[in-house]
Amino acid sequence: MPATVVVGTQWGDEGKGKFTDLVAAEMDMVVRYQGGHNAGHTLVVNGETFALQLIPSGVLYDHITPVIGNGVVVDPRVLIAEMEALQARGVDCGSLKLSGNAHLIMPYHLELDALHERHLGEAMLGTTKRGIGPAYADKAMRIGLRVQDLLDPGIFEAKLEVALAHTNKVLAKVFNRLGVRASDVAAEYLQECAPRLAPHICDTVSLLHEGLDSGQRVLLEGAQATFLDLDHGTYPFVTSSNPVVGGACTGAGIGPRHLGRIIGIAKAYVTRVGSGPFVTELLDEVGDHLVEVGGEYGTNTGRRRRTGWFDLVMLRQAVRLNSLTEVALTKLDVLDGLDSLKVCVAYELDGRRYEHMPYHQSVIHKAAPVYAELKGWKTDLSGVTSSGELPSEAADYIAFLEDGIGVPVRLVGVGPGRSQYFDWQQTD
Ligand code: GDP
Ligand code: IMO
Ligand code: MG
Repeated sequence: MPATVVVGTQWGDEGKGKFTDLVAAEMDMVVRYQGGHNAGHTLVVNGETFALQLIPSGVLYDHITPVIGNGVVVDPRVLIAEMEALQARGVDCGSLKLSGNAHLIMPYHLELDALHERHLGEAMLGTTKRGIGPAYADKAMRIGLRVQDLLDPGIFEAKLEVALAHTNKVLAKVFNRLGVRASDVAAEYLQECAPRLAPHICDTVSLLHEGLDSGQRVLLEGAQATFLDLDHGTYPFVTSSNPVVGGACTGAGIGPRHLGRIIGIAKAYVTRVGSGPFVTELLDEVGDHLVEVGGEYGTNTGRRRRTGWFDLVMLRQAVRLNSLTEVALTKLDVLDGLDSLKVCVAYELDGRRYEHMPYHQSVIHKAAPVYAELKGWKTDLSGVTSSGELPSEAADYIAFLEDGIGVPVRLVGVGPGRSQYFDWQQTD
């Protein structure tokens, strides 16, 4: 049976965690394929909130094997803390599998992330300061350490020496900072972390393919989103991995022939954390309203998210880049009570209209949104369980988005809880 993918279509925080958890009910394995603990995926189950960073969102089900794939960057200290916090709340993480090929976030990656940001001054990216960029940079420079190195102290120490020969020069000569002592890092990672993680480390590519061959149902969970993609996002205001569906292939070790359902998660409006262009951004009281009603503060950084109207140009690009087979719309309930709603149908600059994402950054920075205006609804949608219960204005809004996106909208979220959704395609 082909694997299913969940991918963010905007700038993150669309509700991937909630929908991964929802779809995971029918799965056997959930694999995270990129990113690290820059992600914050929130699940609300029976009134209890879980904010996951590294552990796949299927973990709350006993029948799921949660897998951290090779494309993820792992801070072992954070992973251990997350496992312990879940265990303390009665969630068993014993079956968690961790790819030996995933790269490690080292303590100096966090320091470098903060230093780079400070160095950029006004051009700062607004990263999560979790060491993500420096860890992927070391991976590309081929001086990264991998999870499997935790299992061989000799190799770990030799690789650390190579990495620090470079990094300590950068810290001292570029940033005027003290170097890092190899023995401190080795003590923490080899003595404290390695024994805790060893039982989970394995060849996740074989595990995944053995699962697929034996008919297991696999869900690949993306972090971040299409417009934070290193290649396809609003560079340089992006993350350092490939959240798009191609990243699922490299980051889990699976070819595109094995992929079936590709679910793009889209918020019913748009949010962004950190710097970068945002064509439909709302800097008025409607924007403040969406922040307050939508609780638009970072799941683990607490930062206020920027808000804006739904952008069909972004979604059409997300359809292209990810071969989306369907879109899941989240947080429709947050729009309750607004008199009218705007949807960006195209961009405009210097008399030219763009129905599809312009490739040139300066166009994206300067473009103005072309809006369609739709009527809002005054009903509370949080208890809606089927599309037949929707007020006509809400049904019109979804139909308008679906038509503009060009692929079917299927699941629609009307609240953070696991059961707060309906299937737009089911009319009765
Ligand atoms: P992710 O990073 O894509 O997993 O999204 P986050 O968890 O960072 O942010 C989404 C937020 O919206 C979380 O607080 C969710 O609990 C919440 N959420 C998800 N779906 C819905 C929905 O349909 N309605 C409402 N009101 N909240 C939702
Ligand atoms: P989830 O999976 C929203 C943003 C940061 C910053 C940029 C680069 O919860 O949707 P990084 O630390 O990755 O180098 O920061 O990317 N960013 C996110 N924004 N949701 C996320 O994850 C994000 N992960 C990174 O705010 O602008
Ligand atoms: Mg998030």
